[in-house]
Amino acid sequence: DLRMLLLLTKRVVLFCFLDGQAQVLLKQNYVSVTRGETKTAWIECEGVGISDFQTAFIHWYRHIPPKAPERVLYIGPGSASYDDDSYRNKYTSSKKGANVCTFSIADINSSDEGTYYCAYWQTHRTIFGTGTNSLFCSFPPISNPDKVTSSPASSEILQKRHGNQIMYVCLIEKFYPEVIRVTWTDEANKEVTDNIVKGDVWKPANGDKYSIGSWLTVPAKNKDKNYYCKYEHESQHIQKFLKTVLPLC
Ligand SMILES: *[C@@H]1O[C@H](CO)[C@@H](O)[C@H](O)[C@H]1NC(C)=O
Repeated sequence: DLRMLLLLTKRVVLFCFLDGQAQVLLKQNYVSVTRGETKTAWIECEGVGISDFQTAFIHWYRHIPPKAPERVLYIGPGSASYDDDSYRNKYTSSKKGANVCTFSIADINSSDEGTYYCAYWQTHRTIFGTGTNSLFCSFPPISNPDKVTSSPASSEILQKRHGNQIMYVCLIEKFYPEVIRVTWTDEANKEVTDNIVKGDVWKPANGDKYSIGSWLTVPAKNKDKNYYCKYEHESQHIQKFLKTVLPLC
């Protein structure tokens, strides 16, 4: 009947619409930002696939545990609109270049430590930033964050054969702060997402640095293929790659 037809039409329109917008991605390229107390921290969000980024509305959320995530502001073509007037002196946001939206947190202290997300609202869903930008405040105040962030002291890929499976463990040890992004790619530089166990970050009771292990399991028939473990950490200005070593036999 007519109602049914209307409903169907609606659904078709909806799908087309979703299809047309399916490419939107918000990249938060820094994994973490560490600054000294009283300093201003800057976070960036790069929009991919958003037509007319300058007029698009970008939202910024903060998640400072134990409180629930909440929106701080949003910015369209003009200046930012704040969810609470008290945020005006603390946070700013602006558009930069063709597709970057920046967010700043002024006069930081440890109460600001948390994760900040950018987001873009589509008609039926919200796209959040692909990564997290976690803010860490260091004390005493320092101007050079390299003094407190530290690169992993060691990183390696271990391997073990279990029957018809090969297990690779990418072990990254002793870094600070604890936020790290670990991904696996194959020889074609394509991200491998199946059969990966990303371990939790841990800290030995007697140390102040963190470690992480990420496991990749592949069928033994793939033993001649190389895999790469990639990690991104605030201390590294470029991404680091580790390559698996072919088994001896
Ligand atoms: C951080 O600064 C805010 C505002 O200046 C203040 O209310 C809060 O108590 C401070 N927190 C810490 C842990 O110093």
